[in-house]
Amino acid sequence: MTTTSRVLLVSGSLRATSTNSAVLRTARALAPDRIESVVYGGLGALPHFNPDDDTDPLPVVVGELRVEIRNADGILFSVPEYAGALPGSFKNLLDWTIGDDRPGSIYEKPVAWINASPRGAVNPHEQLRLVLGYAHATIIEAACTQVSATTAMISDDVLIADAAICEPIAKALTILASFRLSGGESFLRATQDGRPLDLRRV
Ligand SMILES: Cc1cc2nc3c(=O)[nH]c(=O)nc-3n(C[C@H](O)[C@H](O)[C@H](O)COP(=O)(O)O)c2cc1C
Repeated sequence: MTTTSRVLLVSGSLRATSTNSAVLRTARALAPDRIESVVYGGLGALPHFNPDDDTDPLPVVVGELRVEIRNADGILFSVPEYAGALPGSFKNLLDWTIGDDRPGSIYEKPVAWINASPRGAVNPHEQLRLVLGYAHATIIEAACTQVSATTAMISDDVLIADAAICEPIAKALTILASFRLSGGESFLRATQDGRPLDLRRV
């Protein structure tokens, strides 16, 4: 029986001092032993999506992205708002996920996001929901979280130092990672019923 869960952490920002990337690094740092979390680092290296190139042999970095997704039990995103929308480089990543028809692709993959914007960033998260729905990913609503992260909260170890934010970040990762460990559909029903989750048990 599988007792660990692997979560792929995908930031939508390429900025070196990105708050969204810091939020995901913090999630990784706070993860309990049974959750293996991996920060995806290839966003900036992905070629522009072109359906003509979505064929074997795939560009190497695209193949690596798809392997990372297939190897993950869930994907946790954190993306900024650029000009009222998803960042173009991040939408490019999502476009590359659509054509993977192998088992374990983004299709039915448990996914969630942390909205780290202090300004709400409603639009990109509505767009993220739309695209993930198109991809038939399984959105784990109970893991989707809003925090308010600022550059000032990033400490010298490039993690978020604010304890009030760390708690919901850790909770988002734990709930997402627990989806498969806890029997999928019954877990979803419990969260949709609004019953409080005992995170020590999931
Ligand atoms: C080109 C550009 C456009 C932006 N557009 C918006 C916007 O429409 N709405 C908003 O709330 N913030 C906007 N921002 C601010 C970023 O979303 C904000 O700085 C965010 O923290 C960046 O994420 P990061 O820290 O992970 O890099 C914009 C920033 C840039 C550079």
